[in-house]
Amino acid sequence: MCGIVGVVGSREAAPLLFDALRRLEYRGYDSAGIATLLNGHIERRRAEGKLDRLGEVLERRPLPGVTGIGHTRWATHGAPTEGNAHPHGTDRVSVVHNGIIENHAELRAELEECGQVFSTETDTETVAQLVDLNLKLGMAPREAAHACLKRLNGAYALAMIFAGQPELMIGARHGAPLAVGFGEDEMFLGSDSLALAPLTRRIAYLRDGDWAVVSRSGAEMFDAAGEPVPCEIRQSALPGGAIGKDGYRHYMEKELHEHPLVIGQTLQRMIDPATRRVVLPELPFDLRTVPRITVTACGSAFYAGMIGRWWLESEARIPVDADVASELRYREPPLAQGGLGLLISQSGETADTLAALRSLRAGGQHVLSVLNVAESTMARESDLVLDTVAGPEICVASTKAFTAQLSVLACLAIATGRARGTLTEAREEELVQALLDLPGRAAELFALQPAIRDAAAVVAEARDVLYLGRGAHFPVALEGALKLKEITYIHAEAYAAGEMKHGPIALIDRTVPVVASAPSGRLFDKTASNLQEARARGGRLLLFTDPAGAARMERVAEQLIVLPEAHAFTAPILHSIAVQMLAYEVALLKGTDVDQPRNLAKSVTVE
Ligand code: F6R
Repeated sequence: MCGIVGVVGSREAAPLLFDALRRLEYRGYDSAGIATLLNGHIERRRAEGKLDRLGEVLERRPLPGVTGIGHTRWATHGAPTEGNAHPHGTDRVSVVHNGIIENHAELRAELEECGQVFSTETDTETVAQLVDLNLKLGMAPREAAHACLKRLNGAYALAMIFAGQPELMIGARHGAPLAVGFGEDEMFLGSDSLALAPLTRRIAYLRDGDWAVVSRSGAEMFDAAGEPVPCEIRQSALPGGAIGKDGYRHYMEKELHEHPLVIGQTLQRMIDPATRRVVLPELPFDLRTVPRITVTACGSAFYAGMIGRWWLESEARIPVDADVASELRYREPPLAQGGLGLLISQSGETADTLAALRSLRAGGQHVLSVLNVAESTMARESDLVLDTVAGPEICVASTKAFTAQLSVLACLAIATGRARGTLTEAREEELVQALLDLPGRAAELFALQPAIRDAAAVVAEARDVLYLGRGAHFPVALEGALKLKEITYIHAEAYAAGEMKHGPIALIDRTVPVVASAPSGRLFDKTASNLQEARARGGRLLLFTDPAGAARMERVAEQLIVLPEAHAFTAPILHSIAVQMLAYEVALLKGTDVDQPRNLAKSVTVE
């Protein structure tokens, strides 16, 4: 969260910075700001709210200068006001920051004691004030910055510029990502290579704890002790062009329509078309002997992991533990030596998941990550990455990345089952066929739009909604409820269908719709009984099912959304898309900001 960018160059900086901020807006949109050096003086423009507001300010009061820094904010410390918008600083230094300075209160007290005057409520200002004090004490900029970094606790990616130093920018990272971009007679810093993609493909990633002194002609990198470290430049593969909505109303609508393609592309990477078998890259561990898998992730990615657990346990008969990353790390579960840590993340930068990755590694686990951003910190720290081929996901709420994660996890479960001898060849063939059928089935879902719209009209009226599912469809219910909360601000809870009678049933009346995901099959009768219980108490039942399920529940459900028939193995993937579509239709009725819902950011780089 929070996007930072910087440039030392020979062209006007503000338009470059603004364009890069547009590509970073997914990291937060509470406020935005840019500072440049103008005749040696620091000038800045800031605005509360979305980036467009800053655009208006810059139009009224342009900001010349060839060296500058920019920021798009997801507020942590201090309200999302213009006053708290980055860049922060003094006449001498200007700073943008992504992360949290955990010892900001004690630093602030100390700096105030020394006469530094603060003007914001942010943790970031302590960095600017500390560098400013060091400069006042006679230190050169790089010395002042290094001395400051030594005092900081917490997570940061920082970029700083200095008055009277048009050829200098300093960047630093600890726990939050920072990329250095190498241009022709210009240099860049950015939270990720996507932000820098239109400017340069030549990227070096700072290692954790390192910092960089950037000039127009290059960068020197140092470790925390100030010793020079090598700078490894890579070629980024990310697209530099603008990512448009292609005629859709929202990125979410576009990304929902990309499900069939994304699932197909992801499966293509993992299934050999000639043999129709799942093929994994060479593994640095042996799936036959891994004693246990620990799945961890956050939010939707965690729900994908829960479905993955179901598949791994049922098809490969391997013990799997699953916990959200922010809990796993502190729970300190006993880990079997040589076990496998399975991390799932769209961005590859989520701070909680990254911290869990590191603690799993410290606990002697192999690290396998399912990631959508190949050039991410988690990718660099994993033993093996299985790519989701979802392409850039712009809507803050995840949709296509989620089904791509499920596609990878399904293949992993098949490969693990084969390796461990729990899958017969016939079963493998059956499951692979079910996967290969998925893109076609997913495309058929768009024909359900009228039925989903009818269901959306019921949900849009509600203050609270209950989502139910059983087995691999419980995480589908969680995903549906999360998506609804995120983009419509309607309160929703998801329960394992069998749990409803143990408490949440007390909530049910005519005003609380019950949304259930229940295809026919082994668990259907049990779930159907739970739904009858809800109906008997006046609950309005909206049921996602298949033709056989619909025939059974015709009289019970107020609205039936009948998905195409699918194998039980892949049904959770189709149902996930359908519940995401429901949330989108409700958001349209509510008129909310679908792509950038309030209070959220896409890449959550603080713990
Ligand atoms: C929900 C959503 C979030 C993310 C979560 C993890 O729509 O997008 O819950 O799934 O923040 O993010 P990644 O996958 O980037 O680690």
